[in-house]
Amino acid sequence: MRQIKRIVILTGAGISAESGLGTFRDEGGLWAQHKIEDVATPEAFIRDPNLVHRFYNARRIQAAESKPNAAHDALARLQTGFPGEVMLVTQNVDGLHEKAGAIAIHMHGELSRALCAVCDHRWDAPPEMSVGESCPACQQPTARPDIVWFGEIPYHMEQIIEAIQTCDLFAAIGTSGQVYPAAGFVEEARMAGAATVELNLRDSDMSYAFEEQIVGPASKTVPAWVNRLLG
Ligand code: APR
Repeated sequence: MRQIKRIVILTGAGISAESGLGTFRDEGGLWAQHKIEDVATPEAFIRDPNLVHRFYNARRIQAAESKPNAAHDALARLQTGFPGEVMLVTQNVDGLHEKAGAIAIHMHGELSRALCAVCDHRWDAPPEMSVGESCPACQQPTARPDIVWFGEIPYHMEQIIEAIQTCDLFAAIGTSGQVYPAAGFVEEARMAGAATVELNLRDSDMSYAFEEQIVGPASKTVPAWVNRLLG
């Protein structure tokens, strides 16, 4: 077995499912309750900012009350205990990796942060945001959730791609592999010669691209996988 020095882990909504936070595309998920074009695009925010704030306010309050599960805890343990580098990239906007003590790179933003649409200033969001809230830096009434909406560029891409191109092991946990660029990370990792593993309840759209698949609920499979890595 090759020596593993650098691990890149990508997480999706599935890792937070057992903490009570809904996923997007499972039965009854968020995209079954709301249309993406109504609540998760820049055009939606221009058309009906109240609706968009209500959508994110509800998720922000729910996320603030939620607790990390054994999968989040295991990844934090891996980050501190592994004798190499562990980069944790998440598509999730809840703060559960941080609550578990991990450091995560949020490529789709964070519910707990607000962004000024004019001057790009970021600050800690209040529990509920409303239309016309002003930016503490430029005073313009242009505060919005610091969430990467469809059609916008995910954050930290250069850093993420550089890490994937130099990692020895790439793992995707609880993601359906339907949204790019995250869905393409596994191909990038394989081209770089990394080993690849997918941990999911079921097949995802990218399962074919992974060498190894560990099927089951993340709260069970991730701790076992981390124990294996920590030997
Ligand atoms: N354990 C492991 N995997 C699970 C669990 C669980 N308990 N529950 C659900 N899953 C898996 C599902 O099988 C599915 O593959 O989690 C995945 C959830 O998929 P999505 O709902 O599509 O969530 P995600 O992949 O994170 O979506 C990516 O799409 O809407 C955008 O910006 C949003 O970040 C999100 C992105």
